[in-house]
Amino acid sequence: METVLSGIRSTGHLHLGNYFGALRNFVRIQDEYNCFFFIADLHSLTTHPHPDDFHASVKIILSEYLAAGLDPEKSAIYIQSDVPEICELYVLLNMLAYTGELERTVTFKEKVRQNPDNVNAGLLTYPVLMASDILVHRAQWVPVGKDQEQHLEMARVYARRFNGMYGEEVFPEPQNLVFKGGAMKVPGLDGSGKMGKSNGNGIYLYDDEKTITKKVMKAVTDSGPTEPDSPMPEVIANLFTLLKLVSTQDTVDYFTEKWNDCSIRYGDLKKQLAADICKMTLPIKEKIDAIYNDDAYLSKVVASGRERARASASATMKLVRKAVGFKAF
Ligand code: TRP
Repeated sequence: METVLSGIRSTGHLHLGNYFGALRNFVRIQDEYNCFFFIADLHSLTTHPHPDDFHASVKIILSEYLAAGLDPEKSAIYIQSDVPEICELYVLLNMLAYTGELERTVTFKEKVRQNPDNVNAGLLTYPVLMASDILVHRAQWVPVGKDQEQHLEMARVYARRFNGMYGEEVFPEPQNLVFKGGAMKVPGLDGSGKMGKSNGNGIYLYDDEKTITKKVMKAVTDSGPTEPDSPMPEVIANLFTLLKLVSTQDTVDYFTEKWNDCSIRYGDLKKQLAADICKMTLPIKEKIDAIYNDDAYLSKVVASGRERARASASATMKLVRKAVGFKAF
């Protein structure tokens, strides 16, 4: 079985964009691949989170992924900082990573622009740590979106460079795992086209009914169709895209007809959309709460994930140390 690996940002909450975009695919591939999913808490230290918030955000995001269907019986689900082999590989790969290429990384340049007061070396070598996450399991497949493609390319460069320098094929070159049908784009509620946490237009799996209803009722619309069968403006098409994700075909057909004959009432559409989103997400929210409050379960999940991840990582590090030339006295 081939290995798939994905790193999960340790801050924020899962929104419907994450759920329909990547997560549902992660859940599906757990039977087809040897899967490693981890919370990238070390990466988050580049922005200096307060120690009080640090653990809490890891716990939240872990609970949300488990509630949404990542299965610790099938996949290795672990916390990055629980696997010291990642840090060891990071040191070794740093010797092969040139500062020039790191400084040219798009995400680094972006961060420098955004936070000129916090250009730390961890930020510069962020792609090296990410490469270590991947290469430490000799993973063949890493599903990433556009924004992480350059980082994955750098992981391939370091794999190639290591193999070339030490004359051994220790690392395969990890490829982007592109899901059948592509990643689904989930529109936001503000008419901007894409649901994301940065623009505050997202519906979160952990939102309660009141919050979801309020957000949906506030979604941007227009003044309504004036001619039968007129083309839909983007803001309305976005609502229909969401409806298609969470409602039945009958419901979608009903409102499409109403649009076509100009009798649509956006209030009704939104009410239905909110109700159907709730029907899908509230059971997940219930699970999130239950898992979050079950420390014994979480500690079991994390311990078994750690064990599996370290077994895999230490096997790689044996090969790495041998290739580099470490020898016992
Ligand atoms: N950088 C990724 C992000 O911001 C998270 C991540 C860290 C990751 N390590 C990884 C993703 C390894 C894939 C593989 O989303």
